[in-house]
Amino acid sequence: MTDSKAETVAPEASENRQGSPDPGRPTAAEIAAPTAPETGENAASPAHAIEPQEPHVHDEVDDDDPYDTDDRSSTASLSSSILEYRTLHGRTYHSNQGNAEYWGTNDEPQNEALDIIHHVLTLLLDGELHRAPISPDVQKVLDVGTGTGLWAIDFGDKYPSAAVLGTDLSPIQPSWVPPNVSFQIDDCTQPWTFAPNSFDFIHIRWLFGSIIDWDALYREAFAALKPGGWIESHEASTQFSSDDGTVTEDSAMAQFGKFFAEGGKKLGRSMTVLEDGVQWRGIEAAGFTDIHEENFKSPLGAWPKDAKLREMGQFQHLATGRDLSGTLLYMGNLMGWKPDELQIYAAKLKSEFKNTNIHGYYWQKIVWAQKPR
Ligand SMILES: C[S@@+](CC[C@H](N)C(=O)[O-])C[C@H]1O[C@@H](n2cnc3c(N)ncnc32)[C@H](O)[C@@H]1O
Repeated sequence: MTDSKAETVAPEASENRQGSPDPGRPTAAEIAAPTAPETGENAASPAHAIEPQEPHVHDEVDDDDPYDTDDRSSTASLSSSILEYRTLHGRTYHSNQGNAEYWGTNDEPQNEALDIIHHVLTLLLDGELHRAPISPDVQKVLDVGTGTGLWAIDFGDKYPSAAVLGTDLSPIQPSWVPPNVSFQIDDCTQPWTFAPNSFDFIHIRWLFGSIIDWDALYREAFAALKPGGWIESHEASTQFSSDDGTVTEDSAMAQFGKFFAEGGKKLGRSMTVLEDGVQWRGIEAAGFTDIHEENFKSPLGAWPKDAKLREMGQFQHLATGRDLSGTLLYMGNLMGWKPDELQIYAAKLKSEFKNTNIHGYYWQKIVWAQKPR
């Protein structure tokens, strides 16, 4: 069964941005353009465009993107090897753990960006934290790849009955958390050691570019859930689109999705999770039933007329602008970009992000399903 609320796209009057960025390697010709996200077999086709506001406003977001690093403090129980961060051009990344390889930094600017994105994603769901119809007295909950842990903390606050465990490669979670929330360093791509049939709800959000084998991840979640338990998989596309042609083919924003699609291929961890329909297919293959999906357009910038979408767009701009260098560095390095090429590309992106005549958005998809009773 599918329950979708996809939004869409009717072209509006277009006003093109200035300039024609040349972000460097890889060129558009070298990279196959990602296709539109798959929307599930019964997903409704997009129904309307996000309306831009008029007159065009100035986007006030401060997109300061510092290069300085700051290792976050960690809990005393962590073994020292967990804190032996790898570095690249002054930025830090998770310590070596088996086969794990995550492309984002784990330092202050990136962690701040994650916190802001959590706010965007909470706005997206009108203050809710999930779509799966879990019980109000849900007991055991797992947040896989929890990042800075804000989802787990908010969930613990909202559901006092729940014991919430957040796992991640990096110890970037705060130590002052609700008593029913805890964190563990754990590589979710290794065979899981959680007791079978032990969780009521497993939440997986924004792990694009982190997972070699999504089917295996969903199988592990299936085994760890109690019969009747729910999985929720929330992923995003890195591809920017517009309904009115203002994200042009040669723009830095259009290049963004191609950059990450190619980087994900080089890394062996797909960035095109939405485009490839990975969530529904993998969740169904793992044995889940009662599968649902919902697709969302997420704007970047202050351009939408609608107040909620405008707020989301402003915070998305703040988050993305906050740490473009940390976002681009690992993949760029992998693909042979030089640091100054990345800086030039980041500058072009930033100027497009600020331009409210460019009506860019990316897609997000939530798939949720139940383990049969
Ligand atoms: C984009 S962040 C998303 C954080 C959080 N899920 C959220 O939505 O706010 C991706 C997180 O996944 C973590 N991660 C990547 N690969 C992982 C792995 N193999 N096992 C556990 N966590 C992983 C990263 O360390 C990072 O904190």
